[in-house]
Formats: sequence, structure tokens, C-alpha cells
Amino acid sequence: MAAPAPVLDTPDPSFGDLLAARPALAMDPLAGLMVEEVPLARIAAAVGTPTWVYSASTLRRRARLLKDALAEAGLDASIHYATKANPSLAVVNLLAQEGLGADVVSEGELRGARAAGVPASGIVFSGVGKTEREMRLALAEDILQINVESAEEAEMLSGVAASLGRRARVALRVNPDVDAKTHAKITTGLTENKFGVPIAMAPELYGRMSAMPGLEVVGLTVHIGSQIAQGVASYRAAYQRLGQLVRELRAAGHSVARVDCGGGLGIPYRDELPGSPAALAGAIKAGLGDLGVKIMMEPGRWIAGPSGVLLTRVIIEKHATTRRFVIVDAAMNDLLRPAMYEAWHGILPVSPVAFHAPISQADVVGPVCESSDTFTKGRDLPALPAESLVAILDAGAYGAAMSSTYNARPLAAEVMVEGARFSVIRDRQSYDALLEGQRLPAWAEGHTPG
Ligand code: LLP
Repeated sequence: MAAPAPVLDTPDPSFGDLLAARPALAMDPLAGLMVEEVPLARIAAAVGTPTWVYSASTLRRRARLLKDALAEAGLDASIHYATKANPSLAVVNLLAQEGLGADVVSEGELRGARAAGVPASGIVFSGVGKTEREMRLALAEDILQINVESAEEAEMLSGVAASLGRRARVALRVNPDVDAKTHAKITTGLTENKFGVPIAMAPELYGRMSAMPGLEVVGLTVHIGSQIAQGVASYRAAYQRLGQLVRELRAAGHSVARVDCGGGLGIPYRDELPGSPAALAGAIKAGLGDLGVKIMMEPGRWIAGPSGVLLTRVIIEKHATTRRFVIVDAAMNDLLRPAMYEAWHGILPVSPVAFHAPISQADVVGPVCESSDTFTKGRDLPALPAESLVAILDAGAYGAAMSSTYNARPLAAEVMVEGARFSVIRDRQSYDALLEGQRLPAWAEGHTPG
């Protein structure tokens, strides 16, 4: 079922408002829009477009803000960055240098986190469907924790671990049946979702798991959804329920050493009012603070989202009878969020002249052959003739990570900026690489492509 389009009954933020809320961005009267001290026009000239541009200082600052908020609340906590948000090695490496571990959901992410320098002792493996091969790898690497999502998975993991003569450190993912009031496609904490076990079944299963030979049950984990953008009330409710469960389990003689509080903290893409790290830390403290459990967190978007923009160039402006289309060289294969979730992303012109020019409504669209390849409809924007550069904001999380090569469009380049420097952290995919690994079937021998 298609999700209903969100009703936006407030005016869009102005360019000035968007800039003011994003400290890594600045509009220089001569150089135009800059990420930190690097003009985006310079990056476009050197690297081409479309290109993802990440601010290293923003990543670092946000990692620190989160750490500080947890410490100030007096919580003994560790942060495991959800690499699915932005698995770029340079990003994960920077966050590892800040002392963050990683939350991974696949062999690829586990390998990526290790390659980026995250110690195995800082890695948590989440996800509803880990294969036996992934379990074996996680055990061989001796990662910190595997989050188990069902009785069946517990049995399977115990079997795999026992066959290797190991015990897997596991946390049981509990579904607290809390409505995170987020987009239907990214909510996870309701009974109808596929994630975790219903909280009512947790005591019995926790007991059963404690007796499984291949498991060392270390605690509980919960994740209620992503882009939780209406305060922290749903977090409070979830952690309250988890706290009660910890007490119940202990009363039954079980040990619960850790609670992994998940991720999900939202960011203001438009005018949302998500809770602050301090408010989230407060919710954790209120529900779990007096239990002496080690707290873990798995944030992705909150750290990476605001650090990135997608830099794109206008191919052509098309004036149809009733609408103005700005056709850019980025598309839904690059940034899928608007097409998939009707997500709103700020869009800023890069040129200082365009920034102050008269505005009128435009649809910003990509070249892909789908109507949903639309970044925005009816947005107030200046004239954006061919070759103009625009930046699509808050694209640091679930941007490059969700890209595809649909319409045979190579994956875009990725750049990291720090101060006045920038560095390409991922080359633009080549057209050769797009075709790599493909061949005609063996029976078509003699008809080699190319
Ligand atoms: N932990 C678990 C178990 C998760 O499933 C997720 C995200 C996270 C942590 C990190 O959540 P975050 O802090 O980033 O909200 N593609 C969607 C978001 C999907 C999130 C999936 N799970 C989007 O673009 O909005």
C-alpha cells in the first residue's frame, strides 16, 4: 500500500533559515555555498556532479554531542554507529577515531566496519535474518554482541556457536509495541512489524536462551523506528517497558548486564522538532538509569544525516504549460528518500547570485524514467538555468548508502571536507565498472559483447 503523501501545512523554511540551522554550511558572497571552508563550486569543478559531500567536522561534532549528552546524564554508555546510514570507510573510520563502535546488519557491513578500523570488541550485529555464514564470521571475529530477533534465530545461533566450540554473546531484541509515530516504512516497534519478539514473550524466551549451550545471554535490545521526530515520548514509553522487563527477568534469577537502546533519533529536514540528545539521554535514564545496566546506542541518521549534501548540476530547465521543471543530474538512483518516503530535503542554489534572486515555484526532478524521480514539487527556487549547481541538504544518511545504478547511472563520487581541505573518499564509478562481471551465457560463446 502506498503511504499517504505527508500534509505540509507550514510554509517551507527560507534559504536563510535552512543555512542558519546548518552550521557546516555558509553562503560566501563571492564563492557561493560552502561546506566548511570549501566552495561547492570548487568540488564540482574538480570532481564533477552528482557528488556527495560530507563535512568531517559535523560528523565529529555530532558524535561528541551524543557522547557528552550520555555522559552528562551519568550513563555508562557506548555508541555503536549504525553503518547502514553511511557505510563509507572514511566516515566509519572518522567515527571510530571518536571512539564509536559500529552496529552492522550484514557480512558486508561487518567487513566494512573492520576495514574502517572499528575493533571487533566495538561491533554489534543486528538484523532479522542473519545467515549461518554471517553468524560464523561474527563468532570468528569475536564481536561484542549479536542481537537475536527470534526464538528460531536463537536456536540457530546456539547451534552454530556450539558447533564451533564457542558461546555467542547475545542480546534479545524486544518489540515493545510502541508507536514511534514515524513513516510507516521505517517504523519497527509495533507488533505488526517483523522485528524482535513481543515483550510479553520475552521472559520465557530469555530463560530458554540462557539454557542454550551456544549462547551467553548478556541483555536486551530495542529499536522502535527511524526518524523519530516528535520529541522523545515514544522512547520514554519503550525504555520504561524495558526497565520493567529487566526487573522481571532479574526477579526470575536471570542476569541482565546490558540494554542496547537502538537508534532512531530524528533530525529536522524541514521543520520537525525531534528530541535532543539530552532529552533522549533523559528518557534512557528515566527508564533504565537505576538498574546498573551498561547502556548501548545504535544511532545512524542523527550523526551522519546533517553532515552531507548531494551536489548536483542543472541539466536543463523545462517550462511546461503549468509547471517549471528543473532537471538535475542527480536522480532517484542517487538519493532515493524523496521517491520512497515522500521525504522533504532542503534544496539550496550554490551561486550567491541565485541565492538572492527572485523565486518562483519549481519541481526539481532527475533524468530517470519514472515520475517518482522527483526531489520536490512546487518548491520556491530562483531561476536555475543549465549548468547551475544546487545542493540537496541532509543527505549524509541513507543517501549514498541507498544508491543504485538504475538506468545504468554510475554511483556518484563521495568527497569529505575538513576545514579548507577536501578529499575524494570514493571515486565516481566508471562505465567500465558498471559492466564489470557481466557476460553472455556460455551457450552464446562467440558473440562476446563490446
Ligand atoms: N538499529 C537498528 C536495529 C536499525 O534497524 C536502524 C535503522 C538503526 C539502528 C539506525 O537508525 P537511525 O538512527 O539511523 O534512525 N532508509 C530509511 C531509514 C531506515 C532505517 C533502518 N534501520 C530512511 O532513509 O529514512
